[in-house]
Amino acid sequence: MGGMDALLRRAAWLALPKLNQRRDISSWLARWFPKAPAKPVVALKTPIKVELVAGKTYRWCVCGRSKKQPFCDGSHFFQRTGLSPLKFKAQETRMVVLCTCKATQKPPFCDGTHKSERVQKAEVGSPL
Ligand code: FES
Repeated sequence: MGGMDALLRRAAWLALPKLNQRRDISSWLARWFPKAPAKPVVALKTPIKVELVAGKTYRWCVCGRSKKQPFCDGSHFFQRTGLSPLKFKAQETRMVVLCTCKATQKPPFCDGTHKSERVQKAEVGSPL
């Protein structure tokens, strides 16, 4: 019987770190993948003109935290925003004007919203 007790104690001892690991993983997931996404911030107050190449896939920055505007540099993930970039494929090679204020109603393209008082009065790096 003593052998069985020892075996059970050993099994419990081995299971304990696994329970802690599971809790660590869920807190890690909550930290890196928040349930409520952050608000996008104004990256710039004027759009950026870029040439899109037909067939190429782009990732437009949604969070406004990228240092490579108007495209994603992974900041949405590393700053744990819960947001994701807008992935799109260019249908033709052409010059386009992409939004950097993150308030456009036609993402990823500029629709002129950056000219509004709301955007122009906002601080760069702050949400609207
Ligand atoms: S830059 Fe955002 S609407 Fe023009």
